[in-house]
Amino acid sequence: MIKQFKLAPSILSADFSDLSLALKICEDGGAHWIHVDVMDNQFVPNLTIGPCVVDSIRPKTKKFIDVHMMVVRPEELVEPFARAGADNITFHIEATNNPSKIINLIRSCGCKAGISLKPQTPLDSIYPYLDEIDIVLIMSVEPGFGGQGFLPETRDRISKLKNFLSDNCLERVMIEVDGGIKLHNAKEVINAGADVLVAGSEVFDSQDPEKRIKDFYQVFNNELR
Ligand code: DX5
Ligand code: ZN
Repeated sequence: MIKQFKLAPSILSADFSDLSLALKICEDGGAHWIHVDVMDNQFVPNLTIGPCVVDSIRPKTKKFIDVHMMVVRPEELVEPFARAGADNITFHIEATNNPSKIINLIRSCGCKAGISLKPQTPLDSIYPYLDEIDIVLIMSVEPGFGGQGFLPETRDRISKLKNFLSDNCLERVMIEVDGGIKLHNAKEVINAGADVLVAGSEVFDSQDPEKRIKDFYQVFNNELR
């Protein structure tokens, strides 16, 4: 059986002066999702994209806009990102004492809901919320910057989560993996149990980003069985 997966290029590594081009690359390359990295200079040291950027790109693509909020007080940004046109909103488990409240808020805005966790955060910290969410975003680097190396211990975390989901009839929850995803490690990450791969620098720093997206799907279609 050919494994199904989705590629979510992160526009963090795109040219911010020409996001229309980044969207066209994703479109022409056949990527499923657009990954938007939101950083607030508090939860992480970097500062990136706010709702107004999502609002600008929304009319230019029909693709699923996947917002990854690396922010403190995520509850304050759910409605602005939903109004701007996000399809999914993911927040960090480390940024709140009340995940269910944020999940309910995301749902009340009509979006899919995701929880992310940093590499050092115990996997079981998200188990109580799995039946309330659509996506778990496993960080495979410390959040904050593109272009870092994939942390190899992430493979075991993906497999462990995949097993937990199937043991608890929660297979509908997607596993998304973010950080250091390259063509050369995509297969092992998918085989560990990932459903969605985020790729920033591997796509947008390449000579031919559109072809690089197609290359990802080639790897999967031809070799992942
Ligand atoms: C890191 C971000 C990632 C990042 C991925 O905090 O969440 O989405 O952009 O970039 P690469 O693929 O370059 O590691
Ligand atoms: Zn991300």
